[in-house]
Amino acid sequence: MDARVGKMQGPIELEAAVAAPNYAPLPVVLERGEGSWLWDADGKRYLDFMSAYSAVSHGHAHPRLVRALVEQAQRVAVTSRAYHSTELAPFLAKLVEVADLDGEARALPASGGCESVETAIKAARRWGYRAKGIDPGRAEIVVARGNFHGRSTTVVGFSSEDDYRADFGPFAPGFRHFDFGDITGLAEAIDENTCAVLIEPIQGEAGIVTPPPGFLRAARELCTERNVLLIVDEIQSGLGRTGAWFAYMHEGIRPDAVIVGKALGGGLLPVSAFVARAPVLDLMGPGSHGSTFGGNPLAARVALEALRVIEDEKLVERSQALGAHLLDRLRQLRSPLVRAVRGRGLWAGVELTPDVSARAIVERLAQRGVLTKDTHGTVIRFAPPLTIRREALDWGLDVFAAVLAEFDPRRAPFHDSGIPHISALAARRNDDVKAATRIERRARQSAHLMMSSPRHFEVSYAINPWMDPSQWSVSADRLADDARRGWAKLMATYERLGARVTAQDPVQGLPDLVFTANAAVVLDRKVLLARFLCEERRGEEPHNRRFFEALRERGFVDEVVDPPPGLFFEGAGDAIWDVSRGLIWTGYGQRSSREVHAAIESLYGVPTVPLELVDPRFYHLDTCFCVLSGGEVLWYPSAFSAESADAVRRVAGAGNLIEATDEDALHLGVNSVCLGRDVVMCHASDATRASLAARGYRVHVVPLDSFNRSGGAAYCLTLRLDNETRAADRGSDSDSDHEREFEQLRRAA
Ligand SMILES: Cc1ncc(COP(=O)(O)O)c(C=O)c1O
Repeated sequence: MDARVGKMQGPIELEAAVAAPNYAPLPVVLERGEGSWLWDADGKRYLDFMSAYSAVSHGHAHPRLVRALVEQAQRVAVTSRAYHSTELAPFLAKLVEVADLDGEARALPASGGCESVETAIKAARRWGYRAKGIDPGRAEIVVARGNFHGRSTTVVGFSSEDDYRADFGPFAPGFRHFDFGDITGLAEAIDENTCAVLIEPIQGEAGIVTPPPGFLRAARELCTERNVLLIVDEIQSGLGRTGAWFAYMHEGIRPDAVIVGKALGGGLLPVSAFVARAPVLDLMGPGSHGSTFGGNPLAARVALEALRVIEDEKLVERSQALGAHLLDRLRQLRSPLVRAVRGRGLWAGVELTPDVSARAIVERLAQRGVLTKDTHGTVIRFAPPLTIRREALDWGLDVFAAVLAEFDPRRAPFHDSGIPHISALAARRNDDVKAATRIERRARQSAHLMMSSPRHFEVSYAINPWMDPSQWSVSADRLADDARRGWAKLMATYERLGARVTAQDPVQGLPDLVFTANAAVVLDRKVLLARFLCEERRGEEPHNRRFFEALRERGFVDEVVDPPPGLFFEGAGDAIWDVSRGLIWTGYGQRSSREVHAAIESLYGVPTVPLELVDPRFYHLDTCFCVLSGGEVLWYPSAFSAESADAVRRVAGAGNLIEATDEDALHLGVNSVCLGRDVVMCHASDATRASLAARGYRVHVVPLDSFNRSGGAAYCLTLRLDNETRAADRGSDSDSDHEREFEQLRRAA
């Protein structure tokens, strides 16, 4: 057994068993940190290129900060704001000084960053009513699309990310959106009820997205002209990260208020604050707001020391100089996988092409001793401590360049995402299935998926009613960009859920290759290749054959078989494996021949249920029929002939059927992928969400609009390589934990 597994396995498994699964950490168990370095439980050293999302800008265990922490903890740590303390005022005075707002300013301390965003929202609204004279209850705040300001219900309510919002509503009203960086859009979004514009100067979580030069200055002028507060969230970008104390200083502006957090705690404690011009915060009288731990003596002492260390060690200047070097080196990378490099100071985002999974790169970097993080499936972020030495920075960048070279598509026809650590670890101890922890149950759900990147995706012909090449020709760039983002997010979602993804290279001139579900169906490592009805897709056939042959050579599959002569067959799109019933549902009448079901039965030795498709909009079975892992079937009955609809009812059982709404069907939401209890879909109506939740499923919505315009969505973009009849034979016995868990959830629902 790998020696590292010994010590890492325990904490990872235990965490999976006791911690809510709202994070998907890399398989590294950290034990100690010093400066820019971290050590895992086995003593392996890693360079920290993440700094806990900028919270550790001072480096780990900075001696001055640790000393301040210990001394103050021994004196007095928490008093509450019911009394004064010797520590609070010096801290806030220093903070107000470095924020350098126009005129007198005040600060209101809290702990987590989002708490201070909430303070900002309250203060802005109060200013709107009491100073600007907005009618009661009408105040609005303008926010940018792609924003990230934290996780409270109000704050996720104005996020544009579905993952952050799904099933957490109802949300607070009073927010309007504009496109980040678009000053005209911002001007249009402001009206007489607008009390504030709340923006990040660089959008961190969105992928280190920088606005066009001059945007902040123009936003400042606009806010002044329209009597609106400009509030800048510098929780991640502030305190030297971008090579200035605050990122707004790069444009020489002064906002009305700034929100500070993360590095303010010196990498030791959560400390945040809302700093604003006096006329804003002076309206927050006693009783209006508070926080038990906000501004406590321990936090105040450490935060003051953190600000002084930034000054004394010239961390802002370091960030500027080393940041220029970081960006220079990243921009010099000559990898076909790098699409763009963005950033400022010691804060950079490298956007990769969709041909590679950012998560897989990040996992490989961790194996080679560099810790960083992916965001949105395509961006890798770099935010080392501002104290990092140049040699260490260079070493980390050398490792990054070497890892990109490993994944270079010119060296391999396809690549795999990292084998999810969960399944890797669980596989090492599959001797004890009975004592299954949640991690093992998840491992059993782990899937091996095949995808093909949309590098050459476009709608250039019309072979189904969804396709409209004329639409595509007017907005090709936007649609292609949307496709790329959606696809990357889909891949990242699968990986986050523990699936392994093998990506095949796209081919120019074969835009539909992206719909891998049509390439073949795979069961028990036997591949039944597709034969396309439409001329336009026939070019994919030799390519698919080569790809599956390569998979066979690599030992992923055993046999690659052609469909019988004269028959058409469009792969897993028309052959859906139902593990609960041990059968394959086949679709015919549009693209695949009815008779193909007999070939499937003889190849795999399993029964089939052929279903006739009668609506040309639902031209593959997967567009209107989805089998869930607990045996339920999400379907759209009117896509089927009456006899076939009856067959579905008979075989699936009425109690297992979930009828998709028109809304779902027409957005191709039924075309979804179920991995254990997780259902990945491009659209879910409230009714469908509720039905799935009632049966114990979690819905993950990944919008795939560009692909919808081709008649495809999540299922079409994905081919399962790991379907097994043995899993069906094992049935309820070996999956009993899983089943029990489902049962409990159903009962609870
Ligand atoms: C710009 C921005 N605002 C707010 C927050 C939320 O801070 P916290 O996680 O401390 O609540 C973050 C965290 O990443 C952030 O980057």
